[in-house]
Amino acid sequence: MLVSAKDMLNKARDGKYAVGQFNINNLEWTKAILLTAEEMKSPVILGVSEGAGKYMCGYKTIVGMVNGMLDCLNITVPVALHLDHGSFEGAKACINAGFSSVMFDGSHYAIEENIAKTTALVNTCDVLGLSLEAEVGSIGGEEDGVVGMGECADPDECKMIADLGVTMLAAGIGNIHGKYPENWPGLRFDVLEAIKAKTGDMPLVLHGGTGIPDDMIKKAISLGVAKINVNTECQLVFQEATRAYIEAGKDLQGKGFDPRKLLAPGFEAIKLKVKEKMEIFGSVGKA
Ligand code: 13P
Repeated sequence: MLVSAKDMLNKARDGKYAVGQFNINNLEWTKAILLTAEEMKSPVILGVSEGAGKYMCGYKTIVGMVNGMLDCLNITVPVALHLDHGSFEGAKACINAGFSSVMFDGSHYAIEENIAKTTALVNTCDVLGLSLEAEVGSIGGEEDGVVGMGECADPDECKMIADLGVTMLAAGIGNIHGKYPENWPGLRFDVLEAIKAKTGDMPLVLHGGTGIPDDMIKKAISLGVAKINVNTECQLVFQEATRAYIEAGKDLQGKGFDPRKLLAPGFEAIKLKVKEKMEIFGSVGKA
């Protein structure tokens, strides 16, 4: 059964480790992440962007697929199914479809509107026992080939949003989605410390987990980060493994290709990547 991310994040915060959010794009990714979480005895959060939601035929399809896998793969570790960077409408759609957790990313609104929309969702999620992630200070990333540097959240605004009763808070601390540029100055630990000082026990979320050096990850966890999102790194290993398979000519064999065989190397590569990340985040054995 899918669970809210609340308990797993509170435990991670208290135990000084982080739960990984791994974004899913298809059946193979989902199965690879769930099997690895079970093998590692680690709690896990499956992230779904709105784009991935459309690709996978809508949120109801995803809920059906994930619930089916929890049952058929005998998954016993805690699993949350979470909307990543949701719009207000997207969050409501996921709640209706049966997600156990949603993120409402109101960071691009003025703080008053972010507060109003987040408050409405806090009330809905409370009634239904779902977890809710909010965001302050937008996270940088690549758009049309240009990498925007991540914003730094205002600690006072973080406190305003945390006080609404959200489950977890994503705050920009110079982190970026996708690959970090050569001249990236690193995470702003001074900002993270100031946010932690204002928000107290609130589990903090670090987006843009791809390419952050391990020592920075560990320091961020020691300063209150309890959830780390990873997407691009899984995409990269999936792509590399699939390309190697095709280049080796194994998909041809005179009879066309077998899609199950074609996707198998990427599936195995994601399992290894998720395992590596769970070890770095310290969530192994915490289920
Ligand atoms: P990366 O793509 O950089 O791993 O970031 C993932 C993320 O933060 C999803 O919300």
